[in-house]
Amino acid sequence: MKHIFNKGSERVLLLLHGTGGTEQDLLPLAEMLDPDASVLSVRGNVTENGMPRFFRRLSEGVFDEEDLIFRTKELHDFLAEAAEKYQFNRENVIAVGYSNGANIAGSLLFHYEKALKAAILYHPMVPRRGMELPDLSTTPVFIGAGKNDPICPASETEELSNLLEAAGSKVEIHWEYQGHQLTHTEVQASKKWYDLI
Ligand code: MLT
Repeated sequence: MKHIFNKGSERVLLLLHGTGGTEQDLLPLAEMLDPDASVLSVRGNVTENGMPRFFRRLSEGVFDEEDLIFRTKELHDFLAEAAEKYQFNRENVIAVGYSNGANIAGSLLFHYEKALKAAILYHPMVPRRGMELPDLSTTPVFIGAGKNDPICPASETEELSNLLEAAGSKVEIHWEYQGHQLTHTEVQASKKWYDLI
């Protein structure tokens, strides 16, 4: 997968952009969260009208489940390859994803045990329904969400949080009122959370 890797401390921030983004987008965010961390920033392998994404969708908010499963495995395999290539500890990967990037990070959590050490999900949706999740008791999750997010309604944020908690994860939801936007206060709240995990 197309990516950027910058070597830093033990913690590895896995940056996952939103629809139409690139591996460059979230680099300033990593700098705000943890300027010392290693950074692995990945570009989604799918394009929708020229816009990079991490998996296909059938329409707004309706995911192509087969492709989601395929792309989640692809990213999972890529993480193992990158850990070997860049010599980082695979168990220290913390996802930081926005929108479509948060959804593939959520899908990693849903499909693979120990896929991530922790996750910061900005405006995520429920990636899949009706499946059994792996044990997430050692995987804390921060969710930044909008009470008035037109793409991810508050009820879906709560549904996601409940599913993760039922799998053992400790989840913190930070609510905003700026629709689907990633806001400065949301980033600050995630930084506070990050510093304590
Ligand atoms: C998705 O397709 O992952 C969500 O609708 C978020 C987005 O618009 O990318």
